[in-house]
Amino acid sequence: MSHRPKLVVANWKMHGSATANAALLSALTAGLATGCRSEVAVCVPFPYLGQAREFLSKSAIAWGAQDVSEHAPGAYTGDVSVEMLEDFGASVVLVGHSERRVFHAESNERAAAKALRALHGALRVVFCVGESLAERQAGVTDRVVRGQLRALLSGLMPQMMGQLVVAYEPVWAIGAGNAAKPEDVQEVHAVLREQLQRVDAKMGSACPLLYGGSVKKETAARLFELPDVDGGLIGGASLVAPEFLAIVAAADAACGDQVKAHGYSQ
Ligand code: PGA
Repeated sequence: MSHRPKLVVANWKMHGSATANAALLSALTAGLATGCRSEVAVCVPFPYLGQAREFLSKSAIAWGAQDVSEHAPGAYTGDVSVEMLEDFGASVVLVGHSERRVFHAESNERAAAKALRALHGALRVVFCVGESLAERQAGVTDRVVRGQLRALLSGLMPQMMGQLVVAYEPVWAIGAGNAAKPEDVQEVHAVLREQLQRVDAKMGSACPLLYGGSVKKETAARLFELPDVDGGLIGGASLVAPEFLAIVAAADAACGDQVKAHGYSQ
């Protein structure tokens, strides 16, 4: 069981406009102004990184991107490097999201290469894994997520683990309206936890494991109290300030419960 603050990461996907973002970011900074126990980050489309920096640099909310190139700066038309993200104050990046894997044919190896490039820099990487519906029905969920994570872990230097976050996002639950069942989430998170601990027992226990896929304010509390769930990766609900703030509040409450249950004081 983790006693760390929860981590709640917003994935805006390809949504937003300068006007809509200004309203959303202002509402988030106002809503979290009195402080929260959870760590919060928003991953925005590349063109809005400057706007995120403008609105968030005086807040405790971190910002970042949803993808990054596996290459060093060079002749890669359309790509965005780690250095460019860092130039805009980004401290976090999503890698290997299923929408990249499916719509951009991103392989396990390519996702791993992107993550390693970002980990060589100072970025925190939210590395996404998750099975399709067909894979779940075929009973190969554990094998699939292990394979996705193994591609990264095989090239990882132990000191990079402190920058790593793993997000379990069953593809069939993303944008579906219904999150995975808590017992199924915990089962997969336990598999991932064990795999991380085999690399380094201490760092593997400390590595945040997020759940993503239709997390809503109504379901967040139950998911965040699971022993191996350290927070959430939030898509649709992160675009609506009151929804997202309610999810952060659920993360705060879950962290408080764990702290109380284990006799720790803040
Ligand atoms: P969702 O998306 O919360 O809209 O299901 C989550 C994600 O894809 O990261």
